[in-house]
Amino acid sequence: MADKNKIAVVTGANRGIGFETCRQLAERGIEVILTSRSVDKGQAATDKLRSQGLDVRFHRLDVSDEASVRCLADFVRTQYGRLDIVVNNAGVFLDASGASGTGASVFNTESDLIRETLETNTYGVMRVMKALIPLMMGRGNVVNLSSGMGQLSEMNGQYPAYRVSKTAVNALTRIFADELKETKVKVNALCPGWVQTDMGGPDATRSVEKGAETVVWLATLDESGPSGGFFRDKEPIPW
Ligand SMILES: NC(=O)c1ccc[n+]([C@@H]2O[C@H](COP(=O)([O-])OP(=O)(O)OC[C@H]3O[C@@H](n4cnc5c(N)ncnc54)[C@H](OP(=O)(O)O)[C@@H]3O)[C@@H](O)[C@H]2O)c1
Repeated sequence: MADKNKIAVVTGANRGIGFETCRQLAERGIEVILTSRSVDKGQAATDKLRSQGLDVRFHRLDVSDEASVRCLADFVRTQYGRLDIVVNNAGVFLDASGASGTGASVFNTESDLIRETLETNTYGVMRVMKALIPLMMGRGNVVNLSSGMGQLSEMNGQYPAYRVSKTAVNALTRIFADELKETKVKVNALCPGWVQTDMGGPDATRSVEKGAETVVWLATLDESGPSGGFFRDKEPIPW
């Protein structure tokens, strides 16, 4: 099978879409490095997948910490010498709720909250791409978890920190894809839909299995696949 002997890193993978992505990638025969900012939670998640016979290994990663990202890159370099798949999944949703059940207005959002959100959702994605793409030897797939809330074509008020952080992820996706266009490294973004996770909440319309489906599709594209795109349900969507 084409996916055998591939190595993948998934960020923020102790729960939610990241954890499910690890499971689905490992089920395809890919060796998965499950990463998490908490050693205990990440190790427990890894043990759970290993107990199902899946080839998953844990390494700590806090995407908001430059040294932590460097430490992961050193681990991949020394243990494997290469990498095939990077899934930038780690994310936070820190926007406060407004009075009417919507997100707080931009007028009531502190700059510090936007800064803190960008640190993980945007700079985290950039840090990981800068550190890990050089290990991909000019080929492979990078997948960035974005959101419909970051689409400029659909941009509305409320939830300003999260929205801005995901619009910026889309921009980074285009920038990296363009700078890598002479290589076989593909960089794509997606919206997973509204998914039942701690972030999505219990009323979300999609299972976590469905939420990870397009992530895994982009992570396992062959060399003829697209790069620099934004997808939902395996179809392109407007930026
Ligand atoms: N669920 C949805 O409906 C939905 C919709 C659109 C987009 N998304 C995107 O999909 C991705 C996954 O979301 P989810 O629903 O699975 O969320 P989730 O259940 O809240 O999981 C988020 C994961 O990110 C980790 N994380 C947060 N900050 C981190 C950091 N600095 N370093 C490393 N890991 C960190 C969390 O770790 P801890 O356990 O340590 O907190 C957790 O493992 C996110 O990027 C999200 O924005 C989700």
